[in-house]
Amino acid sequence: MKHASSSTPGRSQAEDVRPTLATEDTYDELKRKFIANGSDSVIDGAQRREMVRRFEEIDRSIPLATTPTDGLLLAEMLMSTTADGDVVECGCFSGGSSAKLSIVAAALGRRLTVFDSFQGLHVVDEHDEQDLHVRRHVGWLEPWHSGKYRASLEVVRDNIASRGEIAVCEFVPGYVEDTLHAPELPERVALAFTDVDTPGAVRTCLTRIWPRIAPGGVYASHDVALLKSLQVPLSESVWRDELGEFPPILFGAGFGVCDSAPHMGYFVKGRDLPPEYLKSLTIDKRQVD
Ligand SMILES: C[S@@+](CC[C@H](N)C(=O)[O-])C[C@H]1O[C@@H](n2cnc3c(N)ncnc32)[C@H](O)[C@@H]1O
Repeated sequence: MKHASSSTPGRSQAEDVRPTLATEDTYDELKRKFIANGSDSVIDGAQRREMVRRFEEIDRSIPLATTPTDGLLLAEMLMSTTADGDVVECGCFSGGSSAKLSIVAAALGRRLTVFDSFQGLHVVDEHDEQDLHVRRHVGWLEPWHSGKYRASLEVVRDNIASRGEIAVCEFVPGYVEDTLHAPELPERVALAFTDVDTPGAVRTCLTRIWPRIAPGGVYASHDVALLKSLQVPLSESVWRDELGEFPPILFGAGFGVCDSAPHMGYFVKGRDLPPEYLKSLTIDKRQVD
């Protein structure tokens, strides 16, 4: 529900204009819209309701480092993109985000390839050891260390088998610096979701996966709220020298997509994409009363 701006005695109408987004980014509100979007989607309202039920079961039973809202945002983007290709995830921890992506991929007849070391983070130098959160106070973030978020391939497989759609999944174990190559990386990627934390890994994921993103496809990252990681997808050398492209908009840069998805950001591939297409990838794509 939008805040109706009530008039305050002694204030002019112009002063009374208030932000209307304050309550719109709560998970419950977005969930309601996510289900309502089924009236004009390849995945209808009943399927979306069932998807949300399964996502919430995953949130209750698998340790996740992403929020329930992150899961809905990714699902909406994947169900709404017109891009060809499969789904790639880098950085799965215990497989909670992968289980959600696998459910959406299965509903759409796409495959999901999961890249992870299955040994946790890989901190290679001093620069990668400590980052700074844009929206939180200094000291909130513990230094990164190798092995953080470690979960074995067996645990991840079991979690996806019990809560997701294991039949559409493939796993590529190893550090992304070694594994993000053909033939493991699908030729065309409709949506990539990367959540690897350290700037070095963020760079490897972006430079290796971006060339495979299909026109209109989405490259989503859970690493845009930390300054060093954020500098990578905004770096001139990445776009000009490595990718040879003019950088697209990074939605969410520094602040996340909303308060309940503060680490999430994304690029959409293509020059001069119609604003209507960009809007169609969001949960707030239509009026819901
Ligand atoms: C924050 S966790 C991912 C959280 C997960 N997306 C979720 O929603 O629960 C980071 C993951 O990235 C993986 N990772 C970090 N650096 C990596 C690298 N260089 N190569 C492969 N995997 C890496 C870790 O093993 C870990 O599983």
